Formats: sequence, structure tokens, C-alpha cells
Amino acid sequence: MPTIHINFEQSDLQPTSINAEEGYTILEAVLLNDIHLNHNCGGVCACTTCHIYVEQGDDLIEEISEKEEDYIDRAINPRLESRLACQCLLLEDEGEISIVIPDQSGIIGHEH
Ligand code: FES
Repeated sequence: MPTIHINFEQSDLQPTSINAEEGYTILEAVLLNDIHLNHNCGGVCACTTCHIYVEQGDDLIEEISEKEEDYIDRAINPRLESRLACQCLLLEDEGEISIVIPDQSGIIGHEH
């Protein structure tokens, strides 16, 4: 199982690590572990609310598509390591991935 290490920009949230399974997306993995990450479009690459930073292990997830890049350009504070969590399909059954979840408090969320 790949391990996903999660840091948060929000200072009141503690870093944590979760185990995930190949074939799931990072969005699905964090939601299954009751970690809050907005996903207003329902995970179909049609918003920017699931924006994360992948700081390690990007070789373990599906490559970025042009459509995803277009949406990332509209995200808050995009960086080279920006991804949309709903598009980060886990390709390997082992390894370490480190992500940062941006501050969710400014995003008007829609729980699914
Ligand atoms: S949930 Fe909308 S792009 Fe990921």
C-alpha cells in the first residue's frame, strides 16, 4: 500500500499519514480517512477545489493532463507541484507520497 504523508497549510491541523490503495485517487484516499478536502465538481476535473501540492512521489501517480493543467492555472497559489487530487490516480501498490493540503477555510465547499 502506498503511504500518503499529509501536511496542512492550516496551522490548527496536525500532519498525518494514511495508507491508500492502487486504483484510488488521492482525493478518494483522503476522504476515506475523514480528512477534509473540498471537491465541488465531484471529482471530474471541472473545478479547482481539490487543489493540493505533491511534494514527493509524483512518479507514483497518474501524469497530469492538459485539462488538469488548465484548471490548476485557475487555482489559488498554483505552483510547479500543484495537482488536482481527484486526478491523482495511484499507480503503484507501494511507495511514499507527500502532499500539502492548502487552507480550505477560504473555499466555499460542497460536501458530497
Ligand atoms: S473535485 Fe473538482 S477538479 Fe477535483
